[in-house]
Amino acid sequence: MPPPPTDPDITASAVSLPSRESLPHGEIVVILDFGSQTAQLIARRVREAGAFSLLISPRATAEQIAALEPMGIILSGGPASVYEPGAPRCDPKILDLGVPVLGICYGMQLACQIMGAKVARAESREFGRAHLAVKDRTGLLAAIPAKTAVWMSHGDQVEGLDEISGFTTLASTDTCPHAAVRYHRRDKSKADFYGVQFHPEVTHTPHGVEIIRNFVCEVCRCSGAWKMADFLETQRHRITRQVGDRRVICGLSGGVDSSVCAALIHRAIGDRLTCIFIDTGLLRKNERELVETTFRETSRIDLRVIDASDQFLADLAGVTDPQEKRKRIGNRFIRIFEEAANQLIAEKGCDKGLPLLAQGTLYPDVIESGHGHAGQSASIKLHHNVGGLPEDTPFELLEPLRDLFKDEVRKLGEVLGLNDQIVWRHPFPGPGLAVRILGEITRERLDVLRDADEILLEEIVSSNLYRSTSQVFAVLLPVKSVGVMGDGRTYESCVAVRAVETQDFMTADWARIPYAVLATVSNRIINEVRGVNRVVYDISSKPPATIEWE
Ligand code: XMP
Repeated sequence: MPPPPTDPDITASAVSLPSRESLPHGEIVVILDFGSQTAQLIARRVREAGAFSLLISPRATAEQIAALEPMGIILSGGPASVYEPGAPRCDPKILDLGVPVLGICYGMQLACQIMGAKVARAESREFGRAHLAVKDRTGLLAAIPAKTAVWMSHGDQVEGLDEISGFTTLASTDTCPHAAVRYHRRDKSKADFYGVQFHPEVTHTPHGVEIIRNFVCEVCRCSGAWKMADFLETQRHRITRQVGDRRVICGLSGGVDSSVCAALIHRAIGDRLTCIFIDTGLLRKNERELVETTFRETSRIDLRVIDASDQFLADLAGVTDPQEKRKRIGNRFIRIFEEAANQLIAEKGCDKGLPLLAQGTLYPDVIESGHGHAGQSASIKLHHNVGGLPEDTPFELLEPLRDLFKDEVRKLGEVLGLNDQIVWRHPFPGPGLAVRILGEITRERLDVLRDADEILLEEIVSSNLYRSTSQVFAVLLPVKSVGVMGDGRTYESCVAVRAVETQDFMTADWARIPYAVLATVSNRIINEVRGVNRVVYDISSKPPATIEWE
């Protein structure tokens, strides 16, 4: 194993961080993101424990982090190996700030390496469930059962900690002797370090929430008083500062994300916000009318509806590749927003330049487009509200929900007083039915899918399954199959039914819809939608599948 690098990759003030004054007055836990797919999950677990969490680049200096006055610091996992050339590192001085530090997986290995321990390829890799034997059930592992399951995902591990004075092993698994550790600092000006090789942030670690709460409240001594209403206040200030005296246009889709985004911005800047609802021709049945009516009845925000279906459908003619569909849709969205912005400028005589463009981008969109803080997370899809935007977009973006998960956005929607119909709507992706029609998009195929989708949702609602499922929709497959109707042979399309249950849309399981409901859905679609002779039910979880088919 090569020796640990001695010269950490740190450039003073290499990252730009918010000032302490711009953050909530209460307690903050800072998370250094080493490129983990679950970094935001750590952030949300900290918020659930009642402290404000701030996810930052690992390149921040110890001085920059100290200026944020954190109560604790967490080092996330990440895909690299600490001894790989170019592996992300952090300023070693953060371990001496007098603030407790928790390292998770890669974060634990990096900190232990900085403190002189060896990190090596583990004899047997551990991926998935492991059995943890807890030796010290105080502090970080207070009230955790002596034997419990944890989720592991590592090929390297820390070795030989017993030889380093100050380190205590708190828990181990059959193959990982130092699965949880504490490094006690005798120097009272320095706080202890804790490391866990497993991932307490994921739901597959049943007591993970308690472990993170223990770190936040027991070890860091946070009071646990932070709540979503505080996020509202922080974001209101941030929005006001970013927007200044300019105007904002917000792409409204009628879904919870863009509705909450619009309501939040409206709280901050009032009638300098204009919402634009674009009829892409890729919407569900009656979607445009429904959004228009609900929005006008429940809010005083300036709403403009633009019918651009001809342009979108022309852009998509002959296109079958999913990423290409998203790119073309993203491009067209931007062009239309530009026209809308110019019209607004002409109308209002804005002399402050182009309005900002607000989007209800959430954290899963950011991470799945490969845009994590360390820029090292894998790109899964180019979600149009992040990765599908053209490089040359003239707009400055305003994305106040970028750090939140869907269920947190719903909580924020409730705090903002939005009605249940909006807050609990199933999500609908920006590229709409384009990513639910596999293969070419034509008006005929759109009509088939709309009809099938409407029947499916009618049955889900009438069976009282809408609130217990997270997202339900129909997908039109690019295959035809043989059937028999009456006495004749048919050769028609196939519709897949997708229904999932999930908390945060990062992972999901297929919903166990009762057979009787599936039977009615299938019968109705085949009987009522011309051109469909087969309905199948998707029983894949995410991962390895994704929720949408494209
Ligand atoms: P996946 O398919 O990635 O979906 O498991 C996770 C959630 O994101 C939605 N989704 C999108 N939303 N633009 C969006 O605004 C997109 O390009 C996009 N792709 C997926 C999806 O409906 C699910 O709720």
